[in-house]
This record gives sequence, structure tokens and C-alpha cells, in this order.
Amino acid sequence: MNIPQIPRACVIGWPVKHSRSPIIHNYWLKTFGLAGAYELAEIEPEHLAAFVHSLPQKGYRGGNVTVPHKEEVLPLCDHLTARARAIGAVNTLWFEGDMLHGDNTDALGFAANLDDYAPEWRKARRAMVLGAGGAARAIVYALREAGIEQIVVVNRDQARAQSLKTLWHGAFNVADWASLGDYLPETDLLINTTSLGMKGQPPLLLPWETTRAGLIVHDIVYVPLETDLLKAARAHGYKTVEGLGMLLHQAAPGFAHWFGRTPQVTAELRQLVLDAIG
Ligand code: ATR
Repeated sequence: MNIPQIPRACVIGWPVKHSRSPIIHNYWLKTFGLAGAYELAEIEPEHLAAFVHSLPQKGYRGGNVTVPHKEEVLPLCDHLTARARAIGAVNTLWFEGDMLHGDNTDALGFAANLDDYAPEWRKARRAMVLGAGGAARAIVYALREAGIEQIVVVNRDQARAQSLKTLWHGAFNVADWASLGDYLPETDLLINTTSLGMKGQPPLLLPWETTRAGLIVHDIVYVPLETDLLKAARAHGYKTVEGLGMLLHQAAPGFAHWFGRTPQVTAELRQLVLDAIG
């Protein structure tokens, strides 16, 4: 007898217990009244390829990919979106027939969150991105997609930022922290992608006296939700955007692929995740 299978997806990481993705997807499953499951898959790096290849046998329609697998999963996909290829990282997997597709929805999540809280970001002329890691790559990609051509990436490790610049054929400028003040007076959109300001990490300090009126400040850190960077920006009268919305919005495309419905990022969902963060 064939027992009908409910649609299932998972988040693949190592470790993965901290992931907030199950809260998000289980909320949407409940909201739509859908039978389905979203599970944790704690997979060590040496078992990643075998696990990804076994997704269909395990009954998974796909899943999310998180640290440390976002880059390593790329060559395991049969098809990549242009975005995932350019960013060099995949966070969402799904099957179309037998073909495993990979996308990077962080760029979408970033843009959707700013559209919610500071839609005027699309008119920004000069953006500054602090950090040059995986999140920064997705964000610089989204900034370019939005037509913001003057972008400066400020990073501690200059070689890391330079290698991305070379790979992207000089799509942005690179600066070190010491020369950040040279660019700040021209910046209309400032984004922190570093771990500075995260709970337990050193604060992110800026020479606020050099910032310009109308600046939008976005911190992708969401623990704490209101970082010292955002507090300082608000005290200077600037519009601020918290990081939690990016996490919520990046989840939506995956849900639509696996469960066939397009979910909404609601205030109720936001509160649910906030309560879990504590
Ligand atoms: P993610 O995937 O979230 O982007 P990541 O790839 O580990 O994470 O990148 C972390 C970013 O935070 C990097 O830009 C890192 O700078 P380096 O490339 O110089 O390491 C930055 N970062 C972390 N701790 C920092 C610190 N104490 N001071 C300045 N930058 C820091």
C-alpha cells in the first residue's frame, strides 16, 4: 500500500539547531492550512554531496542551505539562477522534474525588506557596504540590480574585497576602515553586513559628523534587533531599517517552490520570530 507523502523541505546546515527557518515555514504552512513539513538537516561538510543527492529518495522537494554549505552546494546543482552564479552562493534548492535548481534569495530578501521600510532606497545614488562576506556579495548584487552604480565596499581584509572586485570586473570601489570617512559624506545608503554590533561582538562605531542629511542606515544584524548602529542613526535623525525583514523575505521563494503557495511576510510572523530570538 502506498502511503501518500506530505510535501517536505529542510534546512541544511552544520550546526543547524539555531536556524529560525522552521519557525517561518511552519507558520506559513499553518496559515495556509497545508499539510507539509519543514525539518532541520544537520549535515557535516563531508556528507553534504551525498545528502543533497539523496534529497528525492528522502522525500524532500528541496530546502534551504545555510552556513557552512552555501558555496559548496553550488556545483551540486543542475541549474543555477544568474543571481546564484554571480553571488557564488546558494541558499534555496528545489526540484523541477529530476533537475536540482539553486537560487540565492538573500538579494531578493534584502531588496524586499528595504522596499517595506525605506522604499526611497531605490533612488539612492551612492551606497556603502560594510563587509565583504557572503551577505555583502548578495547585497552588492541587489544594489547593482536596483541601478545603484556608485558602491563602495569597506572591509578589514582588503584582499577579500579586492578579489570580489576583480571577479565582478570592478563593479564597485573598495576601501579600508581608516578611509571610510572619505566616502561617508557622499553616502545616501549605508548597510552593515559585518558581525560588528551583533550580540557578544564589538560595536560598530562611525564618524557620524561626516554623514549627510537623508542617509538611510540598514543593519542586517537582527540579534539584537535594534543595534547600536541603528540607535545612533536614529539619534541623528536618519531613517533606519532593521535586519529581521531580510531573513523573513528571503524565505518566501523557497516556500512557493516546495509548497505551491506564495506566502506573505506579516507582522504576526515578525513577532513570532522575535519571540523566538528572545
Ligand atoms: P556573512 O556570510 O554573514 O557575510 P562572513 O562571510 O563571515 O559572513 O563575513 C563576515 C564579515 O564581517 C566580513 O566582511 C568580515 O571582515 P573580514 O573579511 O575582514 O574578516 C567582517 N567582520 C567580522 N568581524 C569583524 C571585525 N571585528 N571588524 C571588522 N570586520 C569584521
